[in-house]
Amino acid sequence: MPVLEAVGRRFEAQRPLQGVRIAACLHVTAETANLVRALIAGGASAALCSANPLSTQDDVAAALVLDHGVEVRALRGEGPQTYAGHVRSLVAGAPQVTLDDGADLVITAHEIGARALRGLIGGTEETTTGLVRLRRLQQQGELRCPVLAVNEARTERALNDRHGTGQSALDGIVRASNVLLAGHTVVVIGYGWAGLGVAERARGAGAAVIVCEVNPLRALEARMAGYEVMPALEAAPRGDVFITVTGSRRVLRGEHFERMKDGALLANAGHFDVELDLTELRALAAQGVRAVRPLVTQYQLGDGRRLNLLAQGRVVNLAAADGHPAAVMDVSFALQALCVEALVRDPGAFGPGVHPVPERIDSEVGRLKLAALGVRIDEPTPEQSDYRESWG
Ligand code: ADE
Repeated sequence: MPVLEAVGRRFEAQRPLQGVRIAACLHVTAETANLVRALIAGGASAALCSANPLSTQDDVAAALVLDHGVEVRALRGEGPQTYAGHVRSLVAGAPQVTLDDGADLVITAHEIGARALRGLIGGTEETTTGLVRLRRLQQQGELRCPVLAVNEARTERALNDRHGTGQSALDGIVRASNVLLAGHTVVVIGYGWAGLGVAERARGAGAAVIVCEVNPLRALEARMAGYEVMPALEAAPRGDVFITVTGSRRVLRGEHFERMKDGALLANAGHFDVELDLTELRALAAQGVRAVRPLVTQYQLGDGRRLNLLAQGRVVNLAAADGHPAAVMDVSFALQALCVEALVRDPGAFGPGVHPVPERIDSEVGRLKLAALGVRIDEPTPEQSDYRESWG
């Protein structure tokens, strides 16, 4: 993670986060550990809990505690109550800056109220789902602190959802099931940046891809990219692999499961485990439910058809694989670190609300990533700069 490493080296020299209390609710992975180390190098104290019970890498959590003195509250497979307790205890530590992947820290702080919000300078948000939740709070006039929308930075867009989720969601599905994608039909439900990436990678692996969307503009984009586009009920009997990436709930439910082929694989790559209706799946499984491989649960319907659920319907790229590769998280977490620094350096610069990542931070990360990749680019000539400015 050369970009994050460069930021960490500068932090170590300048200590811009000296004495700042940071709480992070992120997937506890090796990449996140590097972010935490950079923040500590900058002088901060850090507490970390997991953004998902199945994404925690326990060895990483242990190393952060033992080797780096970080307070880590995360255990792979922890239940929802344990998870909620971990989030609450991080908020109880009165953090000055929060880093979220799904907005749980900021929302919990708002639920607790004035006591938890008093010392909070602001936060950063890593994922689309978290920004949807925060903007809803803002529309209701309830968001009381600034949050920087890392997920929407241009450098993040260039790598994260499209290439990170695109590759790692399929990686998780293949690792868990050993399915051959070539020659099979992959149904991608949701054509945001992550769905677009999953569809691209599936097509590249030789699958026939069907896209299902509720948004007409995205559906049109999918059609123009050459995919078959149709309602999920029509796709249900055609798919061999189904991947939900919508950020919505009950996207695949009983009426879809009833129409699926024997052997179909069901996976979710959205943030929360609510996109597949598992209650309805279980109710249809008249012939039983059994584990057939680690991370594959088979539901056998009354007529004998078997539907295979991956990773309990949890975000498959993290639950069944390693999440986004380090090369992707390098950009995301360099943005996170620089946004924390911006919040701390000038606490009054951002009012309550969701804010874009400052342009200078985005450009700096872009420049460092290009340098790390050994890519050089042109400078505009003086004539080109004058020409551009003449339209100004
Ligand atoms: N989100 C997606 N991939 C991740 C990773 N490798 N580490 C932390 N958060 C992630």
